[in-house]
Amino acid sequence: MKLDVNGATHEVDATPDMPLLWVIRDLLNLTGTKFGCGMAQCGACTVHLDGKAVRSCQLPVSAVGDHAVTTIEGIGKTPEGTKIQQAWLALDVVQCGYCQSGQIMSATALLTRTPNPSDADIDAAMSGNICRCGTYVRIREAIHQAATGTPAGLQVIVDGSPA
Ligand code: FES
Repeated sequence: MKLDVNGATHEVDATPDMPLLWVIRDLLNLTGTKFGCGMAQCGACTVHLDGKAVRSCQLPVSAVGDHAVTTIEGIGKTPEGTKIQQAWLALDVVQCGYCQSGQIMSATALLTRTPNPSDADIDAAMSGNICRCGTYVRIREAIHQAATGTPAGLQVIVDGSPA
């Protein structure tokens, strides 16, 4: 079957029920998208389907059809993805990194539909992405920074003095 991934058409030899995650990782060698729980509960496998965040571990490749798939390898080509990745670097969000492809995909989908999200918007959009290292505070700050171009309050957390 043919798949549109990161703006290019790929022909893959997959059974219809093969999860999109394994098509991306094993057939297309795009290994930035991670396997976490395998039950669509942790968010590590998040990719975009037409700009919306979906869990690729539970999505059969036959359900993708003509929809555009974007993975972490392609998200930096979008304006929102660039802003999110730059804020992630500026605030040193990542700890072990395993969850972070999924975090960036969910954050970019949020920023695309809600250009200036509130804390509540962020918490709602990111609640399905689990981070065992507990980077949630930096993730929230990085999304604010990507939205506004200015860091909001992280200084207080880092060194205990007012920003
Ligand atoms: Fe380690 Fe999130 S950075 S699981």
